[in-house]
Amino acid sequence: MKKIVLFMLVLALALTSQAKILMQPYLQAVTTNSVYVLVECDSKDTVRVDYGRTAAYGRTALASIVAVTNAKVPTYVHKIKLMGLKENTAYYYQARQGESHSDGFIFHTAVEAGTSFRLLWMADFRTNTSIHDKIAKLAAATYPQVALYGGDLCVNGEYTSWKKEFFRSPELDLISKVPFFNTTGNHEGEGPNTVAFLQNPESASKSQQYYSFDYGDLHVLVLNTQMDMKPGSPQYEFAKADLAAAETSWKIVAAHSHAYCAGGHGEDTSLVRMTKEIFEPNNVSMVLSGHSHFYEHNLVNGIHHMIIGSAGAPLYDPGKASYTLVAIKDYNWAVLDVKYSLLNLTVYNAKGEKLDAVTLKK
Ligand SMILES: [Fe+2]
Ligand SMILES: [Fe+2]
Repeated sequence: MKKIVLFMLVLALALTSQAKILMQPYLQAVTTNSVYVLVECDSKDTVRVDYGRTAAYGRTALASIVAVTNAKVPTYVHKIKLMGLKENTAYYYQARQGESHSDGFIFHTAVEAGTSFRLLWMADFRTNTSIHDKIAKLAAATYPQVALYGGDLCVNGEYTSWKKEFFRSPELDLISKVPFFNTTGNHEGEGPNTVAFLQNPESASKSQQYYSFDYGDLHVLVLNTQMDMKPGSPQYEFAKADLAAAETSWKIVAAHSHAYCAGGHGEDTSLVRMTKEIFEPNNVSMVLSGHSHFYEHNLVNGIHHMIIGSAGAPLYDPGKASYTLVAIKDYNWAVLDVKYSLLNLTVYNAKGEKLDAVTLKK
């Protein structure tokens, strides 16, 4: 009997030491004092993240959430929240599970109001993965502090689609250093892998599907255009209360689908209604969307409706409506430079050539 128990113990130890990290860790839901590190592993065994202000780390956090993917052999995404951080500060981190550990990376916590920063926007990554790779490398070279993604991260919500189309090496090199937020697209949807691979911030919405966050002088309302947006729906009521309460210098909305769009998927009537009833009365400056695979700058009642939507998905022909200022059929992505009294959006193509710029002042 003793021999059997000993054998089981040795076997358990051997299995534990074989547990491994499957993918480079990446970052989500950054604030001035916290961030989530997400680590995909082949087991539920405890994952820890060592972190600190130097490469010596010094502090450790353990996973609080373990989500399972629906891969053929299920994998486990460990979500570790690093807390008690200092604003606008560089932190080193490294993930560990048993004998397995990741490389070390550096990220920055969010800045407080009054400090300028750069936000990266990309959307619709799927299909042409070489374009996604090029854009991810170009984007990294602009040194954004934070990223906001416009959804359609992969062609469908299946595990292999996530791994082949979104979690590519240049993308992982970017999001291991630059925390990202996502607005859910129709392609990845809200399936088990979306839930496993993403960790949106806790916000007053009490939902992981739509939320808001502040970063410096920017308030961002992130909608889920796959869900009900009609008056009376929880999302509509959240949006209304959220934008009315926001006190930052700038307010923007991120939504996968678009209120105003010429060509492509056309106007989204629910979002047009929300724009008129909520965004316009609450001084929203800009709405960032993807979904239609081209670049379009539409201006309606003082709000800049930007469609910046293809970091790889097949291109569509843009149209021309009375509100369309610029329309270009090309792959595209953008950086948004935010200061208290200045919002500067610069749009590039997959070759790194500047397609357009929008400057707003207060
Ligand atoms: Fe798309
Ligand atoms: Fe879409």
